[in-house]
Amino acid sequence: MPRSGNKLSPPRIEQLRVENYRALRAIELKEITPLTVLLGANGSGKSTIFDVFNFLSECFQFGLRHAWDRRGRAKELRTRGQQGPILIELKYRERAGQPMITYHLAIKEGPRGPVIAEEWLQWRRGVRGKPFRFLDYKEGKGRAVSGEQPDEEDQRKEIPLKSPDLIAVNALGQFSDHPRVAALREFITDWYVSYLAIEDTRSQPEAGPQERLSKTGDNLSNVIQYLRETHPVRLEQIFQILRRRVPRLEKVLADAMPDGRLLLQIKDAPFEEPILARFASDGTLKMLAYLAVLHDPEPPQFIGIEEPENFLHPRLLPELAEECRAATEHTQLLVTTHSPFFLNAAKSKEVRVLYRNEQGYTNAVRASDIEGVDAFISEGASLGQLWLEGRFGMGDPLVNSGAPQGQGRRR
Ligand SMILES: Nc1ncnc2c1ncn2[C@@H]1O[C@H](COP(=O)(O)OP(=O)(O)OP(=O)(O)O)[C@@H](O)[C@H]1O
Ligand SMILES: [Mg+2]
Repeated sequence: MPRSGNKLSPPRIEQLRVENYRALRAIELKEITPLTVLLGANGSGKSTIFDVFNFLSECFQFGLRHAWDRRGRAKELRTRGQQGPILIELKYRERAGQPMITYHLAIKEGPRGPVIAEEWLQWRRGVRGKPFRFLDYKEGKGRAVSGEQPDEEDQRKEIPLKSPDLIAVNALGQFSDHPRVAALREFITDWYVSYLAIEDTRSQPEAGPQERLSKTGDNLSNVIQYLRETHPVRLEQIFQILRRRVPRLEKVLADAMPDGRLLLQIKDAPFEEPILARFASDGTLKMLAYLAVLHDPEPPQFIGIEEPENFLHPRLLPELAEECRAATEHTQLLVTTHSPFFLNAAKSKEVRVLYRNEQGYTNAVRASDIEGVDAFISEGASLGQLWLEGRFGMGDPLVNSGAPQGQGRRR
C-alpha cells in the first residue's frame, strides 16, 4: 500500500454519482462531508454504496475483470430491468483549495468480458476556466495530457492500452509524466473498506510488522507489532482508550512465537497470565481493530466502516463516532449504521437516509433536507431519537410507500 507520507490536507470526495449499479439505478450524492453516515431500512442500499467504493478499489488493486467477476458480472451487477453501462463518477479535490476534478468511469459487458465504455478525467482551472478533459479513453483507446497542471496547450498523447478492460488511470498513473492521474491512482489504491470479521482477528498469522489492517482484520497482530515497533507512543494511547472502554483490560501483547507466528494476547489487570486473543471477547477485538485503523498515524485516505455497532456496547458508540470525526482531519469516512447511538453524534448534514422508491431503486435524501429535522434538532431533539420516532419517513422500515414525509430536495 502506498503511503502518502505527507501531512497536508487529505483528498476529499465531494460528489458521487452512480448509475445501474445493483439497486442504484441513478443516484447522486452532493456536498459529501468528511464524515458521512448512511442510514436506511434493511435492503435500502447502504452496503451497495459502500460496495461501489470497494469495487473501485478492487478494480485498481486486482483489475476490473476480477472485481466484475466476483460480483457476478453484468448479470448481477446491472440494475434489474436496465441495459445501460454501469457508471461511477466521483468529484474530488486532491487537497483543500485545489480545483475540483471529475473522474468518470462507465463499464459495459463486451463479448469477452467487461469493457471500459468511457473513462475520463476533467477539471476546470480557475473559476472561469472551461472544463478540460486531460484524460479521455474508450475501450482501450484514447489520449492523455501530461504535465503538472494539464492544460489545452500541453502535449496530448495517444497511448493505447493493451486491452479494453484496462483502466487508463491505473495504467497511466504509474508514470511520473501524469502527476494528476498518478495522484488519483494513489488515492484509490489507498482506500480502506472494512469487512471486519471478528473470527479472522483471532488468527495467528506469520510474524512480521504490517502497516495496514486487512479488510477482514486477519493481520491485526501484525499491525499491533508494527505500531509497537514504529509508533510505541501511539500504541500506548490505543491501549489507554481500550482500557477505559473495556473494564479490567490492561494491555494487548503481540509477540513472535518460536515457530515464527505471531501471538496476540490480552492481559487483564487482575491476572498474572494473559489470555490468548483467540479467547478474548468479540467487542474487545473489534474495538482494538477500529482503534488501530482510526489512530493510525497515517491512516488510509478513505475509510469505509459497516455497522460499527455490532458487538459494541451502545455507550461506546458516541465515543467511536467522535473518534471517526477526529480521524477526518487526515481521512474521509463513510459509515453505515442502524444505531441511534452512533447517529446521535452525527450532524444532520452528514446523514443520508436511503430508501427504495416504488420502482425498487435506491434514492437518498440528506437528513438536513427532510422538513422539520433541523427545527426539531434546534429545539433539543437528537437525530437518533427523531429517527426512531420515524421522522425521517422512508428511512423507517415500517413505512413502505411514498416519499419521505415532507421531503425537500432529493439527493
Ligand atoms: N442487480 C440488482 N438490481 C436491482 N436491485 C438489486 C440488484 N442487486 C441487488 N439488489 C437489491 O439491492 C438491495 C440493497 O441491498 P443492500 O445490501 O445495499 O442494503 P442495506 O441497506 O445494506 O441493508 P442492510 O441494512 O440489511 O444491510 C438488496 O436487497 C437487493 O435486493
Ligand atoms: Mg448492509
